[in-house]
Amino acid sequence: MITLGAGSRGNVYGGYALRYPEELDIVGVAEPIALRNERYTQKHNIPEENRFPTWERVFDRPKFADAVLISTPDNLHYGPCMAALKAGYDVLLEKPIAPTEQECRDILAMTKKTGRVVAVCHVLRYAPYFVQLREMIQSGAIGQLVSIQHIEPIGHVHMSHSYVRGNWHDRNATTPIILAKSCHDLDILRWMVGKPCKQIVAMGGLHWFKKENAPAGSTDRCMDGCAVEGSCPYSAMKIYYRERHRTHVFDLPQEPEKQGDAILAALRTTNYGRCVYKMDNNQDDHYITSMQFDGGVTASFSMEGHTSYEGRRTRVMGSMGDIVGDMETFTLSDFRTGKRTVYDQSSGDSHGGGDWHLVRDWIQAVTQQNPALLTSTIDASIESHVMGFMAEKSRTTGRIEGVVV
Ligand SMILES: NC(=O)c1ccc[n+]([C@@H]2O[C@H](COP(=O)([O-])OP(=O)(O)OC[C@H]3O[C@@H](n4cnc5c(N)ncnc54)[C@H](O)[C@@H]3O)[C@@H](O)[C@H]2O)c1
Repeated sequence: MITLGAGSRGNVYGGYALRYPEELDIVGVAEPIALRNERYTQKHNIPEENRFPTWERVFDRPKFADAVLISTPDNLHYGPCMAALKAGYDVLLEKPIAPTEQECRDILAMTKKTGRVVAVCHVLRYAPYFVQLREMIQSGAIGQLVSIQHIEPIGHVHMSHSYVRGNWHDRNATTPIILAKSCHDLDILRWMVGKPCKQIVAMGGLHWFKKENAPAGSTDRCMDGCAVEGSCPYSAMKIYYRERHRTHVFDLPQEPEKQGDAILAALRTTNYGRCVYKMDNNQDDHYITSMQFDGGVTASFSMEGHTSYEGRRTRVMGSMGDIVGDMETFTLSDFRTGKRTVYDQSSGDSHGGGDWHLVRDWIQAVTQQNPALLTSTIDASIESHVMGFMAEKSRTTGRIEGVVV
């Protein structure tokens, strides 16, 4: 496989190749940040001639691997995916597929035309927790499915890191948060219900991370003598320097004694050091959607930026029972017997273990040239993306939108 974009996700999937080298070998990389390119090259022992500064250069060469991983930023999925398909590569494509519905449909059409295997990284479909939850629903364990209530509590620090200061702070440069963060949730709802979504309505907005909420005495950067730095939950000094959370974005030196200074330097120059109330952000920090599926099943979904906890919570209501889960365990209650059964799927891994389960299935699909070995094919994934585009349309027009795939 060739990795396009050796950032955070490129390294997550790259980690699989290091752990299971007999299954996956990374033979090329395209990455403009020299240090990342160098580190990835070293890790995977990539030959010099297969290193590129940007994705375009990979396709100047005749095909030299079975597949490509597209883990570039959201607005750089379409170009590499179309080029990879035309060049005959199978593709592991990070979500969101692309920032517009038309581009998503173009990728679907090109996949059909070329007959390649494309997996979209809807990793929750591969997490044992969601796999078992879906099996329970579809087995009839709670009778007929009636409705679902689902919440994605992003966590207030994660919200500030990714959607206020970080790479996804501008909906126009990337994708609206309903796709950037929550295409997973729309996808998992569609997958659990097992029927197409027919109607969707959404509301939401940016409530808190705005200039008018900046505390008196706050400065443009947290380290510039901000009067409330010591008590602000979003202090960059607290999050990144004192507590060392989410510092992977700084490409820190390996030597622990050099890391503190490197973090301080990054906080002086990058968005991660800026006041959360004075950023150029426009992503919603709360977002609700309601949807109705074929056959009448309803679902409500809340994406919440202002929580002290993370981890999706799901309540499933059926005619003969219900299920309450928190992405580690879920409890099934049977109305007929009064029996309660707890299922424990806690893994401690990112995305409930879904990341590597996806890679494992994708390798099998590529090896056997059989997309049926995947659950997150491009066909299946387009549907939940259209739900996201329609939710966003509804949020701006105030109307209920039909979902036509
Ligand atoms: N499946 C999931 O759960 C999940 C989670 C997080 C992110 N994502 C998605 O994965 C993608 C990557 O996110 P990330 O967190 O790894 O971001 P990142 O910024 O850590 O990595 C992206 C990398 O792409 C590189 N890049 C930029 N322009 C390039 C070009 N022209 N050619 C080649 N490389 C280029 C960047 O330098 C960077 O290293 C995004 O689309 C994101 O939305 C998915």
